[in-house]
Amino acid sequence: MNILLLGSGGREHAFAWKISQSDLCQKLYIAPGNPGTALHGENVQLSVNDFNAIATLCIEKHIAMVVVGPEDPLVNGIVDFFEQHEHLKHIQVVGPSQRGAMLEGSKAFAKEFMIKYGIPTASYREFNADNFEEGLQYIHQHALPVVLKADGLAAGKGVVIAQTTEEALTEFTEMIQHNKFGKAGSNVVIEAFLTGIECSVFVLTDGNDYILLPSAKDYKRIGEGDTGLNTGGMGAISPVPFADEAFMKKVTDQIILPTIHGIKSDGIGYNGFVFIGLISVNGEPFVIEYNCRMGDPETEVVLPRLENDLVDIFNKLHQGKLNEIICQHSSATAATIMLVSKGYPEEYQKGIEITQLDAAEGSQVFHAGTMQTDDGRIVTNGGRVVAITSVGDSLQQALDTSVLNAKKIQFEGKYFRTDIGWEFI
Ligand code: AMP
Ligand code: GLY
Repeated sequence: MNILLLGSGGREHAFAWKISQSDLCQKLYIAPGNPGTALHGENVQLSVNDFNAIATLCIEKHIAMVVVGPEDPLVNGIVDFFEQHEHLKHIQVVGPSQRGAMLEGSKAFAKEFMIKYGIPTASYREFNADNFEEGLQYIHQHALPVVLKADGLAAGKGVVIAQTTEEALTEFTEMIQHNKFGKAGSNVVIEAFLTGIECSVFVLTDGNDYILLPSAKDYKRIGEGDTGLNTGGMGAISPVPFADEAFMKKVTDQIILPTIHGIKSDGIGYNGFVFIGLISVNGEPFVIEYNCRMGDPETEVVLPRLENDLVDIFNKLHQGKLNEIICQHSSATAATIMLVSKGYPEEYQKGIEITQLDAAEGSQVFHAGTMQTDDGRIVTNGGRVVAITSVGDSLQQALDTSVLNAKKIQFEGKYFRTDIGWEFI
């Protein structure tokens, strides 16, 4: 079949790499893609939110399956769009309905869902302009640190962990009265701070059955030892050593099964990934967040360990036959390191030439923020530039290979962390 993949980051390069290995994939298109995805299919210059243009492409190219990488089109309702148009109905879209995507698109919706289905999460309350004064009171009596979350999508920036009451009051006021995150911040979730160690669990579900993909942990801070500003992710590892059988049984019983049950009971259309961001508090799992898609850079370590044919999995998902899939994961460890632009996650330059991309040995280089110029050079086109994934018998071995290759690939202002997975080494 012909497949269209939406997105343009490292996650999408990893998807393109994996999908193109399937015998079931005849022709792969990626919109808009990047120079990395172009190695596995044909890039088409379309916006992931231009549903009409995507529909036209699907008909023209006889697309049978659309795999949605980022959250934006899902939150904007791409699945519902395909279902509502007679001539698009036959196309399988991997992703949740618009309502399902609210698990990521609205923190308040996700919290309500978790409370309703008894899923462990931090205690919280929701505030907006109407109960603003009450919110101030709530902050005054809240233990520190306290977590403030803009309800809507805020490009990963909508979460503030306030160390003092003053800071919390200022942030809360900024969000609600001064539109700090625009409409996304007009509703604010205030929740208790949980202390523990984080990891992510990925489930693919049709709202009835599910399969569990390898667990992963990403490293969000810019600096070594998890210091400095938050980023989209500086690296990731899979598997996560503490997510052993006993922990995963708790995750399954207390979180995954109630989540699937909730999706089904609420009649939410779901044919896609649920990314569950967890925190282990003294060995007990709590949900920090849901995402309605795969993680980036987690996908760059999860897919290299998945031994199944991904297209076969997606087919079974749409046929309601997920129960026929036995998920096979390699027992090896994968580590990925992001090479980022100087200045990231704040201001950085684009258009800087990248060289020695072919020098990496024993690693898979996934393009994230790159672009090809008219004269054929590969240049930087984002803060996160490439992800270097290695698979090894141990985390140390995988990390060493990625670090070695990270040093070989060159561009001016290159920066990366060498300590991905540090707490497990
Ligand atoms: P999110 O955008 O929801 O992923 O939040 C960003 C980061 O903030 C998470 O990865 C956690 O490190 C942290 N965080 C969010 N909520 C909490 C919480 N209730 N307790 C502790 N840390 C949190
Ligand atoms: N790496 C975190 C995310 O994809 O949201």
